[in-house]
Amino acid sequence: MQILIPKEQIAERVSELGRTVSEWYRDRPLTVIGVLHGSVVLVADLIREIATPHQIAFVRASSYRGETTTAEELTISLDLLPDVTGRDVLLVDDICDTGRTLTALSKAVRDRGAKSLRTAVLLWKPDRSQTPMVPDLYAFNIPDVFVVGYGLDYNGNYRHLRDIAVLDESER
Ligand code: IMP
Ligand code: MG
Repeated sequence: MQILIPKEQIAERVSELGRTVSEWYRDRPLTVIGVLHGSVVLVADLIREIATPHQIAFVRASSYRGETTTAEELTISLDLLPDVTGRDVLLVDDICDTGRTLTALSKAVRDRGAKSLRTAVLLWKPDRSQTPMVPDLYAFNIPDVFVVGYGLDYNGNYRHLRDIAVLDESER
């Protein structure tokens, strides 16, 4: 596996994202909502770089990737979502690929009465976009390669890797 983004660079950018979030939401009722499972590593690191009080919550999304690596039917679940009425929401995912996940979740969270909504991702693949979604915050934009690590998986594996690595065809 080839390392695309080493852990030191990830840490540096996540800390910068945390400073931006802290400025945006100072003295506002912020809820950071992570998208399971891919965002767990980013959420854990990002919230410790946010200097303003906030709550965290999770939602679930899956697009049945892996075997085919094409985004198919998207399933979302808001079962775990607390009341966000009147709260400012930062929706956090590992990656914005086609943009379908963040588009669907943004609408669902707004429909639950959030006062404002922004999106933050570790990685953005602008070349893969199939929607107008542009993340409000992203740590890195990357080319159209399949990556794993720092929360991102291939068929459930590799989420624990500290770096972002490219998984090539022979490894899938
Ligand atoms: P979307 O296409 O923007 O809706 O992204 C769907 C989901 O696909 C993301 O939340 C990731 O879980 C997954 N995904 C997209 N690209 C990659 C990748 O390169 N590696 C691992 N997972 C990915
Ligand atoms: Mg995901």
